Amino acid sequence: MHTATEERLIRPAKNIYGSLRLPGDKSISHRYGMLGAFAEGTSRFTNFSTGADCASTLACMEALGASVARPEDGVIEVTGVGGKVNQPAGPLDCGNSGSTMRMISGLLAPQQGEFTLIGDASLTRRPMKRIQTPLAEMGAKITLTEGHAPVMITGSKLHAIDYTTPVPSAQVKTCVLLAGLQTEGTTTVRESVRTRDHSELALRAFGARVDRSVDSVSINGPQTLSAIQAAVPGDISSAAFFLCAAAIFPGSQLLLDGLGLNPTRATLLDVLTSLGLQISVLNLEDKHAELVGTVQVTSPAAGLGSTSVTGALAAQLIDELPVLAAIAPYTRGGIRIRDAKELRVKESDRIALVVKNLRAMGAEVTEHEDGMDVPGNQQLHGATIDSGGDHRIAMAFSVAALRASGDTLIQGSEAANISFPEFFSLLDFVAER
Ligand code: S3P
Repeated sequence: MHTATEERLIRPAKNIYGSLRLPGDKSISHRYGMLGAFAEGTSRFTNFSTGADCASTLACMEALGASVARPEDGVIEVTGVGGKVNQPAGPLDCGNSGSTMRMISGLLAPQQGEFTLIGDASLTRRPMKRIQTPLAEMGAKITLTEGHAPVMITGSKLHAIDYTTPVPSAQVKTCVLLAGLQTEGTTTVRESVRTRDHSELALRAFGARVDRSVDSVSINGPQTLSAIQAAVPGDISSAAFFLCAAAIFPGSQLLLDGLGLNPTRATLLDVLTSLGLQISVLNLEDKHAELVGTVQVTSPAAGLGSTSVTGALAAQLIDELPVLAAIAPYTRGGIRIRDAKELRVKESDRIALVVKNLRAMGAEVTEHEDGMDVPGNQQLHGATIDSGGDHRIAMAFSVAALRASGDTLIQGSEAANISFPEFFSLLDFVAER
């Protein structure tokens, strides 16, 4: 069981106003850190994620022989192992990070050595069979305990496969591509919903050839990677909390610059637009094929309308659904979420926890196995929130708390450190009281 250690009191706000530049994207930082540590040479990344998850990736890669220097705040220099990792002295601790565990497993399966990947209680509850299945199909020796971590890998030569992911998952896609990178022949991953493509873009940035079609990605191994210099775009999943906070106060104005706007990640902007938010995107730039820009939002005087998130949209918005659900009572017509069963196997059961915490704040909500219905036009009251040790739950309800009547206590608020240690101070900075 998770034990909450820190609490945060969130007072209601009148408005959201200001401009922010957000720390580096978690997904991209994982990939740049991991590939830099595997490549030949020294890579340098600015605006690298400050979250504990990316620190777990870097620590695992150091245990595998890479070296990591932090010359300044937000800057890291990673000297890679040149395609061949060292035998680590002990288990690789992935902490709370599913991305670390699933992606590194693919990197290690074709290497020489014995590797054990472990994680915290939350990560140990999460499904790992989804990576074991394709890796075993490639010939990997990988064992789990009843479908869960520890992940035990005895490295061996693999063969290329053509794999269709049963559940859309960028982590699983990446796992297979990282094994394919080191395996003779063409490894292909097919997906029914296009998941975030940071791995494909990052592999290309590091010099690999990756071929893409509408619904598949192929890599012809073996290939080597060379070091790069890159600035990590601001994290749009972190921006989601501020965008949603701005959205619930008519007249809010918020500007976010240097923000990652990769089309496979920016679906929230479409959904918020459909709810009535005015969004302009300026200064678009391409950084190693990642789109970066400035987002300016103004919240409508008439408040937010209603929306429904189902099908492919639910998969693409999966990390943003907790905060969308948390602000749904403040819309006029409510928000309906379906096809989001994956939420139940994230850092927590995010459907159960969102429902529980919305009810604690006095909201009416109907829970479904794969989503929820949150009616609009509801005024919430301050309450004690259980973060369940889940960063996105802690932050989502801090946003809902801004428009509640009375104060809200977020229990286990330190969970925000997993992806966004600066969250509470930045929220204080833009929330006008
Ligand atoms: C991620 C992929 C998603 C997402 C997670 C980060 C990634 O998980 O929820 O926060 O960086 O590839 P799945 O691959 O399980 O969908």
